Amino acid sequence: MPINARFAENLDELDSPKLQKAIALFADRLEDEAGKANTAEEQEKFFSELFDTQEGIFWSLYSKVLAKAGRVTWADYGIRQFLRAPAKRFLQLGSLSDNPSRYFHPIQRYMETLIANSTDVGKFTLARALWESRAEGIKSAIGDYWLKNAKPEAKREVGQLYNELTKHLEDLLKQRFGVIESGGEALARESVDLSLPGLLRLVGSRHLIRQVFQEIEDIFFSIGFSVVEGPEIETPYYNFEALNIPEFHPVREDMDTFYLELPPSRDKKTAPTPLLLRTHTSPMQIRTMEKQKPPVRVIVPGKVYRRDNPDATHSFAFHQIEGLAVDTDITFCDFTGTIEYFVQQFFGPSVKTRFRPSYFPFTEPSVEFDVSCPFCGGTGTAAGGGACSKCKGAAWIELFGAGMVDPAVYGFVNYDAKKVSGFAFGIGIDRLAMLKYGIDDIQIFFQNDVRFLKQFP
Ligand code: PHE
Repeated sequence: MPINARFAENLDELDSPKLQKAIALFADRLEDEAGKANTAEEQEKFFSELFDTQEGIFWSLYSKVLAKAGRVTWADYGIRQFLRAPAKRFLQLGSLSDNPSRYFHPIQRYMETLIANSTDVGKFTLARALWESRAEGIKSAIGDYWLKNAKPEAKREVGQLYNELTKHLEDLLKQRFGVIESGGEALARESVDLSLPGLLRLVGSRHLIRQVFQEIEDIFFSIGFSVVEGPEIETPYYNFEALNIPEFHPVREDMDTFYLELPPSRDKKTAPTPLLLRTHTSPMQIRTMEKQKPPVRVIVPGKVYRRDNPDATHSFAFHQIEGLAVDTDITFCDFTGTIEYFVQQFFGPSVKTRFRPSYFPFTEPSVEFDVSCPFCGGTGTAAGGGACSKCKGAAWIELFGAGMVDPAVYGFVNYDAKKVSGFAFGIGIDRLAMLKYGIDDIQIFFQNDVRFLKQFP
């Protein structure tokens, strides 16, 4: 062993009679192989090489004969020799005087393996003939070789083993035939084996950024804001002009904008309308107010882009949530009260807020919001002494820009600046998530490293 399985590959050229002859020649070799399988283990391996449903060498010969002759029967010389060869070898073993069951065992396993792998009537008929055939079957051979020749003192035991084996194999054959007749074999092969262990599919989780979006959305939702989303590719009008940033306004300089390279316009005369990746979510202030009359209360989660070089705190793509509230009677107090509510919901009730004057072209006044450092309790000192690592000893953390909507913006959306007022804010989500969850490198949000993602199931 192993048996030369390649043998089967070289038979395609032969015509039917020669094919039978070649198989018969191979059967002689098989007899020798059977003789080398001495332990039960070796025999099992040998039998399964011959008959395993998919791979067994016998079945590949079987299908070759079938393809050539249209059917395979016990009358096929080569096939018959093949099937008998191993049994012949086992039958010639020893005198059976000591422990005869040892000699019956391989014969039984040989037949069992063949029967178990006989998946249709044609194959089954061969298996049955191998056992029952009067001329060349194993059953009569056992009678001739073992029973007749057994020493008188062993005869009784051999006879008993013989009867047991006969009964056992006849039961098996009957059972097998039942399965084949009822189409059970085909069914069994088609059906799902529920005892097999399934494929383990890892369950994913929402990205931490997405989770923080959700947290913030929930907070604003609870005080009457609704969520809207907008395009990531914008026109300069929405990203700048309508936000009171005319073409040569110096803040455009800060925005490090990605402009899109566009194909020429259809008529090839006029320049195409420039497009850009939005540098903030503020364009949605305009788009929302264009569509909707006051009162307006929306937040806008989304991705924004700036031509920043990546490092631990910068990325060319990051996330913001824009907020906008406009109505007839919104005051600066509503504004700071709303922000304070949000910050305390997000970081905890003991956190304080403060604001400092700032500048944005689309808010007036503009402010920068800070929170008292939630990690050192606003003391600037770490628990074990020394400066707090989060606020660097400053006791305050810069959070985001905001302000009262500049009346000039209302002019772009046909709101009456004399009647309405409102506030807007733009929260950087990545920074907020890094703060809250102690992450020190923004790049990790974009690397999709499962070891990171798994920490925030
Ligand atoms: N859009 C501003 C930025 O990205 C933030 C902002 C939004 C400021 C709304 C004021 C009002 O920097």
